[in-house]
Amino acid sequence: MPVLGRVKQAEPAHLVLLARDVSRVQPVIDQINDTLGSSTKVVFVPINLDDLESVRAAAAEVSKHLGEEGKIDVLINNAGIMGVPYAKTKIGVESQFATNHLGHFVLTQNLLPLLRRGRDVRVVNLSSNGYLVCPFRPDDVNFDDGKAYDPLSGYGQSKTANILFTNGLAKRGITSFALHPGLIRGTHLSVGIDLRIFASINEITKKNTGKEFGSVDQPKTVEQGVATTIVAAFDPASGGPVRVCFHRMPQVVGASRGIGVELAKHLAQTPGTHVVATMHKGFSLELPNVEVIQLDQSKTDSVNAAARKVKEADTLIVNGAIGEDELLT
Ligand SMILES: NC(=O)c1ccc[n+]([C@@H]2O[C@H](COP(=O)([O-])OP(=O)(O)OC[C@H]3O[C@@H](n4cnc5c(N)ncnc54)[C@H](OP(=O)(O)O)[C@@H]3O)[C@@H](O)[C@H]2O)c1
Repeated sequence: MPVLGRVKQAEPAHLVLLARDVSRVQPVIDQINDTLGSSTKVVFVPINLDDLESVRAAAAEVSKHLGEEGKIDVLINNAGIMGVPYAKTKIGVESQFATNHLGHFVLTQNLLPLLRRGRDVRVVNLSSNGYLVCPFRPDDVNFDDGKAYDPLSGYGQSKTANILFTNGLAKRGITSFALHPGLIRGTHLSVGIDLRIFASINEITKKNTGKEFGSVDQPKTVEQGVATTIVAAFDPASGGPVRVCFHRMPQVVGASRGIGVELAKHLAQTPGTHVVATMHKGFSLELPNVEVIQLDQSKTDSVNAAARKVKEADTLIVNGAIGEDELLT
């Protein structure tokens, strides 16, 4: 399996798999053991993300497995539910927000001491373009106790929270990613939900945000869907303080130099790709697949003008940042 091959290259000493049900994970553990061999210790830790006691217990068990001076290099917060009817967890929180965000938030918080000891640390949060449907509702995460709830808005809020959490971690010095893997066929995510809810996605998005959701992605296979997570978790070139990764990659914000320009060049090598690279201070990049747009991220007018120029962007790579020297001028 190519995905496991990439994980093997990272030579993990430990691979800790957290899930609700060991019987579903055991075949995965067996396959990993076959591919990675005995140099990687694979451990299962039970967790139910919608129960914070279970989440704290899981974090404690991970810490125990990894030992007193244990460290974590990569944490992938992948689990999620989507589009479920209104329900609340034990502590009275709407279930999509609780499972998709709160559980991962508490797990990560509890593992921070181990993450702080890690090498080239990354936290990878599986968000979704579903974030477009609904902003985070800090004053009313429970949608007026369900009266203002619909399953897509609940999912959207939780996926927006994943992105905000990613930014929060980055601000605290932990390299973090929020990613959209694409529309992946063949997973369990939409099993058992009423698919008719998607018919009103534009209407719901407009009610929540004033904008339409837009067109639905072209579907991808599970293997293709995993690729974005693998790049975020293991590709050395993708390091940096914070990233929002989308599955097709045409837009790189902050592509004038450093990582951004190399990334834009790299993406442009794929035939058929149209890379939109935003540049600050008049840099240019003359490559056939690259469209350059001027952007000064410190000025709202410039940001709005640049956004209007982008005709199509499936992927947004937020790379731009200023260094200490620029902060002082
Ligand atoms: N598939 C897509 O098109 C798509 C698009 C955008 C974003 N995403 C995101 O990608 C991530 C993975 O989705 P997927 O498509 O692979 O879905 P999936 O096949 O349904 O897998 C979801 C995973 O989450 C686990 N999980 C759910 N509730 C849990 C809980 N309370 N405690 C612990 N584990 C729990 C499930 O474990 P069990 O086996 O125990 O249920 C399962 O392993 C999600 O965060 C999703 O929002 C997916």
